[in-house]
Amino acid sequence: MVSASAPGKLILFGEHAVVFGEPALSVAIDLRTNVQASPAERDELNGMPLAGGRYPYLEAALRKARPKGPLSLSVQSKIPQASGMGSSAAVTASLLACLQGIKGALDRESIARAAFEVEFEVQGRASPIDTTTATQGGGILLLKERGKDFLWRIEIEKSRWFLHSCRLPDMTVVVGSTGIEASTGPLVAGVKRLFQREETARRAVHRIGEISLEGRKALMDGDLYTAGELMNENHRLLNSLQVGHPLLDEFVEASLPHSYGAKLTGAGGGGSMIALTDWPDRVTEAIEARGGRAFVVSTEPRGVILEPEG
Ligand code: PMV
Repeated sequence: MVSASAPGKLILFGEHAVVFGEPALSVAIDLRTNVQASPAERDELNGMPLAGGRYPYLEAALRKARPKGPLSLSVQSKIPQASGMGSSAAVTASLLACLQGIKGALDRESIARAAFEVEFEVQGRASPIDTTTATQGGGILLLKERGKDFLWRIEIEKSRWFLHSCRLPDMTVVVGSTGIEASTGPLVAGVKRLFQREETARRAVHRIGEISLEGRKALMDGDLYTAGELMNENHRLLNSLQVGHPLLDEFVEASLPHSYGAKLTGAGGGGSMIALTDWPDRVTEAIEARGGRAFVVSTEPRGVILEPEG
């Protein structure tokens, strides 16, 4: 048997715009998904047959990595599904690590590439932000060109991203989850349609890219007021791209009196929001008073790893 785990993530700045090649900043969080794999008579997940597209990420990862024979998989996850916290990237990276781990040591770059290709195939369109964050851990910065702390370059069709690790200072982030599951693919497709039709959408995407760079600088400078204002602007622009949800707006509004700033995180359409704060208890209370589930997350330096057996 082989076992591997990978972290979830939060996008601090730049979701959706990153799909068009704009800069973005994400961070791995201390919620992990674990996959165990052992030889079996047929491919199965938690004892049930694994086929027919019910678990598209696992099925696509198995097709891509072509293990020698069928596998019995068991998945345990602390990352809520379809909530903007990168659960599909974490499960994909963990399974690919299991398949590599059967043969020897892990090669993170090849896992990040294969996991991205799986997400791209399943979602129809994607950036490598989730999959590289799940694979590498810590802070991840996507840029249009190669910079300091470069990890790898990923290209597909006409898009190209330069991925970097980014050491972020300590900060307190509260996640507010709406409990509304929204799949990423249709939301990404909706933004693409808007981008093709409307100049305002193209301007919003470009401005989000600028915000990511300004936001990263503000965080590195310890200027949380500016970082918070940029989060608020990023949230408004995501709403203009029609990936918001009334409940996300409510949670953002409820957080603001106790936060530097707040925004939706991940694909949106439900899912989750984040608030940057010095008063996590007050923010948690404010979100929960409006029916959300709120919790404080910590940064996770470890990316995908093989777990000791037993
Ligand atoms: O909600 P998540 O965890 O699937 O994040 C999606 C991030 C997007 O920018 C919307 C899509 C992508 O592939 O970058």
